[in-house]
Amino acid sequence: MNSSELMRVAGAMVARGKGILAADESGGTIKKRFDGIKLESTEEHRRTYREMLFTAPGAAESVSGVILYDETIRQKTRDGTPFPQYLTKQGIIPGIKVDLGAKPLAGFSGETITEGLDGLRERLVEYRGLGARFAKWRAVIDIAEGTIPSAFAVAANAHALARYAALCQENDIVPIVEPEVLMDGAHSIERCEQVTEAVLERVFRELFEHRVLLEGMVLKPNMVISGKKAANRAPPQAVAEATLRVLRRHVPPAVPGIAFLSGGQSPTEATLHLSLMNKLGPLPWSLTFSYGRALQDTALKAWGGVAANFAAGQKEYAKRARLNGLATTGRYAPDMESQAA
Ligand code: 13P
Repeated sequence: MNSSELMRVAGAMVARGKGILAADESGGTIKKRFDGIKLESTEEHRRTYREMLFTAPGAAESVSGVILYDETIRQKTRDGTPFPQYLTKQGIIPGIKVDLGAKPLAGFSGETITEGLDGLRERLVEYRGLGARFAKWRAVIDIAEGTIPSAFAVAANAHALARYAALCQENDIVPIVEPEVLMDGAHSIERCEQVTEAVLERVFRELFEHRVLLEGMVLKPNMVISGKKAANRAPPQAVAEATLRVLRRHVPPAVPGIAFLSGGQSPTEATLHLSLMNKLGPLPWSLTFSYGRALQDTALKAWGGVAANFAAGQKEYAKRARLNGLATTGRYAPDMESQAA
């Protein structure tokens, strides 16, 4: 393990003013996104869409890294440059999703465990050879009536996250540790806070026990937020305050940065929340974004799978990247939405 290399890459991933694009949708997820614009999910359509994002003029100023999927890391730009090489040339660090998805957890109806540890060491070696310098593993924790999440499901997922993180560092790859508490359902922000606290407490205990170098990782958590279907959803300032309260309690300052997932928040909501939190600084870690939908939704719609709209899609993506870049230093305001193009 090369600790100084891990620390250097982790620091660059969460550099001031920049964040990460999650473009690592699996085959099933990208099909769902393309269904939304009535576009067939062929390999060439997926390649074109990713090329549109990766080559968007101006975006590199606000994007430190891109998370790729197994298919995407092997694809090339139209003129034949492999995506990882193209990104590296723009000063963007290529990363790779390495988990194999959340599967039903036997014996715990309604809960999941993320799979993909078997053979992971060998896959990491290959991905590093293809240019990846960081990886992502997503654990999924649902909130439901009764006993969900169970302490057992939280512990099993935290254990898998820590085993993944240790394997990444052994292979000089920075792990993004992503324990996502879902915002599906009608739960209150208080319930989300309680569950997120329990999850982060367990995750950091496991990371410690697995001897993971905290300085060489990035945490990717959910924000503490009301469920999507909750009757009285907490306002943005309450989300910012509750999220920071939990993170301050559970994330050691040795962790260089926290890069949030958007998890179903609207693009503008996700940007506002991030900016409000950064306004509440100084903070012990850098606080940035690793958004999928919140960076891509408007770009995907503007493109619509139509070649003539390629530049329009790029413009929308570059706009969201720029506004989220501003949010990492607390300088975003909602009235910028209408001015910025
Ligand atoms: P969303 O921002 O759309 O939640 O995606 C982020 C991600 O990488 C989920 O694993």
